Amino acid sequence: MKELIEKAFAAREKAYAPYSEFRVGAAVLAADGKIYTGCNVENASYPVGICAERVAISKAVADGERKFTAVALVGSGADYCTPCGMCRQFMAEFCKGDFKVISAKSPDDYRIFSLAELLPHTFDSDSL
Ligand code: THU
Repeated sequence: MKELIEKAFAAREKAYAPYSEFRVGAAVLAADGKIYTGCNVENASYPVGICAERVAISKAVADGERKFTAVALVGSGADYCTPCGMCRQFMAEFCKGDFKVISAKSPDDYRIFSLAELLPHTFDSDSL
């Protein structure tokens, strides 16, 4: 838990957020124990930017991972940073309802949510 949060903080250092100046770092734990990190990457054409969570999960998927157990997330606001709606849906493709979303202010100050709690009545491949 602490390691995952620390990796999310380290990933935030790489955030490219010149437009919002809201820097985000994420570290996702794959079922095989590997950790993949990501930061938000913004763009002059604003909607083209991508969130830290989707960067981290995409890196993992590109490395062959398909199952995940938890993600740690750190933003730069005063409150705990929780995933945006698009990231919740993106997580639902690869993560079950008991997937843990750890929103941290520091390695000792965090809240844990389940994906089911953040995205109830999920639309996923079982819905097709
Ligand atoms: N952002 C993330 O990286 N993850 C989230 O879950 C919330 C929002 C980024 C997107 C954008 O670069 C900046 O934070 C402000 O919205």
